[in-house]
Amino acid sequence: MADGNGGALRPISGDVHTPLPHESARRHVTGSAVYTDDLPELPGTLHCAVRLSEVAHGRVLGLDLTAARQTPGVHAVVTFDDVPGDGDIGTVQPGDPILAPDLISYAGQPIAAVAAETLAQARAAARLVEVFAEELPAVLTPEQAWREGSFVSPGLTMRRGDPQAALAAAPHRLAGTLEVGGQDHFYLEGHIAYAIPREGGDLLVYSSTQHPAEVQHAVAQVLGKPMHAVTVECRRMGGGFGGKESQPAQIACIAALLAHATGRPVKFRMDRDDDMLMTGKRHDFHVRYDVGFDGEGRLQGLEVDLAARCGFSLDLSNGVVDRAMFHTDNAYFLPAARVTGHRCKTNTVSNTAFRGFGGPQGVIAIEAVMDEIAQALGRDPLDVRRANLYGGPGRDVTHYGMAVEDGELLAELLDRIEAESDYRRRRQEIAAFNAENRWLKKGLGITPVKFGISFTAIHLNQGAALVHVYTDGSVQVNHGGTEMGQGIHTKMAQIAAHGFQIDVDRVRVTASATDKVPNATPTAASAGTDLNGQAVRLAVGEIRQRLTGFLADHCGTTPDKVEFRDNGVFAGNHAFSFAEVAKLAYLNRVSLSATGHYRTPKISWDRASGTGRPFFYFACGVAVTEVLVDTLTGEYRFPRADLLHDCSGSINPAIDLGQVEGAFVQGLGWVTSEELWWDGKGRLRTHAPSTYKIPTSRSLPEDFRVRLYTARPNREDTVFRSKAVGEPPLILGISAWLALRDAVAAVGGHRYPVRLDAPATPERVLLAVEDVTARMGGIG
Ligand code: MTE
Ligand code: MOS
Repeated sequence: MADGNGGALRPISGDVHTPLPHESARRHVTGSAVYTDDLPELPGTLHCAVRLSEVAHGRVLGLDLTAARQTPGVHAVVTFDDVPGDGDIGTVQPGDPILAPDLISYAGQPIAAVAAETLAQARAAARLVEVFAEELPAVLTPEQAWREGSFVSPGLTMRRGDPQAALAAAPHRLAGTLEVGGQDHFYLEGHIAYAIPREGGDLLVYSSTQHPAEVQHAVAQVLGKPMHAVTVECRRMGGGFGGKESQPAQIACIAALLAHATGRPVKFRMDRDDDMLMTGKRHDFHVRYDVGFDGEGRLQGLEVDLAARCGFSLDLSNGVVDRAMFHTDNAYFLPAARVTGHRCKTNTVSNTAFRGFGGPQGVIAIEAVMDEIAQALGRDPLDVRRANLYGGPGRDVTHYGMAVEDGELLAELLDRIEAESDYRRRRQEIAAFNAENRWLKKGLGITPVKFGISFTAIHLNQGAALVHVYTDGSVQVNHGGTEMGQGIHTKMAQIAAHGFQIDVDRVRVTASATDKVPNATPTAASAGTDLNGQAVRLAVGEIRQRLTGFLADHCGTTPDKVEFRDNGVFAGNHAFSFAEVAKLAYLNRVSLSATGHYRTPKISWDRASGTGRPFFYFACGVAVTEVLVDTLTGEYRFPRADLLHDCSGSINPAIDLGQVEGAFVQGLGWVTSEELWWDGKGRLRTHAPSTYKIPTSRSLPEDFRVRLYTARPNREDTVFRSKAVGEPPLILGISAWLALRDAVAAVGGHRYPVRLDAPATPERVLLAVEDVTARMGGIG
């Protein structure tokens, strides 16, 4: 018996729980991985450029397209008026026109789009579009919007007990505000779509998107076509990070509109500046808090207002702000609390999903509070966190009414990190170092994380797959998820390989496409593997069941005597290679293709009452980060970071480790160097790597110790008891910011409050040092 490859039966390679490299790792590093821009261009392909608004808010009085249209190579110049269908593609509610109609809502909004034979011609023509606009007063910050009652949707409050009374009765109390910056996704591959007309008015769109179904829906709507006329495909993205959840629809619609207008294939590949100016980012928040606590640092009462910059439209902001509110507790029990989320409408780009989806902004607020309490009481920040941790009688329900069963896990993680990072000894060493050094100061920050897994829009919690077995025993897997570097395709291949008990290289995962798996959920909320992995498992199980029934009959045995193992199938006394079984089943007219569909159980969320179980489970972790600050310049580096992240029955520990490292560094960038800066006219001035600083290899902690915690399988029945990992570890980056605050506090011997917003750029650190020095009454 052969295995179809000519080899003998042997244990399968690439099973679940093995640290397999990313399926495209080699292609990524050799440059042979095909991204949308690498697809061969069809003859006649036109290129697109857009004319962006320069004003933040304005009424369009008129456009002059003559010069643009006369530019050599130009085939079409289109505006909102050229949309044949409905040009407002707001995902949750209307408000997102693909091109500015008569109202301009932010500086950077596209007003007209050009298709020309070359990109250079398209750009030149776009610049010649003349816009006559009357400027209107603009709302430019979340604080201003909150004050003026400018919102994209009504606020929401989650409440438990009587926080006012608890605050009044608390032995200690402190209040403050915090500015938390936004973040550009800075995916290495910018937004891109390539729209190709097909016969009968159908359209094929290659799109760099986390949500092909949404792109399909939007393109169909804009062109006034049924969804079956539009197919969207994405082999991979060069990073998405949430920035390609809702945003790609607009890019694809503009390309499709131009393809419709010209009858030619149109490619819209944005350059970095346009991408940063035109597309949404992480929400920045203005936070106010009032907290009461006892002598141990235990929270008694808490009131928090979260005012998020949503930008000019709703987009996904309700989900983002809700998630910030869900994570205002982080790992801590809030006995009496009011948490209110304000969805501020500003004349800036409409903000969107970004790794963590608002969660990090909720967590950073309570983590700042923890450190302030510790400083106020002269207690260690770790001890204050322990005192507030979930767990124990009556201390295991969130402020939105969900039971938390992870108190023990959180305590375990804190115990381990305390030991592994040598926390107590290093605290002492740092105190000694700070006492000896006048200008250099060290700081230590600790952050646990408890992150809720599931979409809070309940209907999105479904996954789907389509699996084919071919007659040579090779397997093709299609599923509803998209690959953005996070390794979902690798995990799906491992799950299929496990199911059929064949080598992972006998499984090919295809590009994500709306004609293979329809109506798929966006790959987001870290749930890609949870949802689609179960769907793949079910589809594989379905085919296996058919093969089992067939083989039992064929070999004159019973189904319980049929076993898939070692690249083969054993039925009674017979042994076959998997390829032989596939061929035999085909010859006997057994279907070798199946779909799988999964829906997450147990979850519910009633937004009106602010209660329910919005999350299937929580993913947890903890980090301790050390910083060294030069207080004369505000510059700093991170000598060491220790991370321990809960990955339960990890399907691929190598990929998960990469996710934890990458997420932490992205979180570190968010709270340290990545600064979005708008001028007084609402124009984003940091829209290229020259002014917007993402972390690089040099920003990494010099001694970077990252470990997965897999001792506890997921208590919920997830795919192979794994846990979602994509977003939660980003929150661990907050420990870097806390370390910076700690180092600044050291300037004043931890006696003076520290005023340090995020991101803590060297400039902000320097200003915070000067502020502490001033409070001390001069040079310390
Ligand atoms: N990892 C890489 N390399 N690139 C990405 O764009 N996106 C993150 C995370 N990890 C991202 C990533 C975000 S925002 C999410 S929601 C998850 O991956 C999505 O994938 P998953 O659900 O399959 O984990
Ligand atoms: Mo991730 S922000 O949920 O795409």
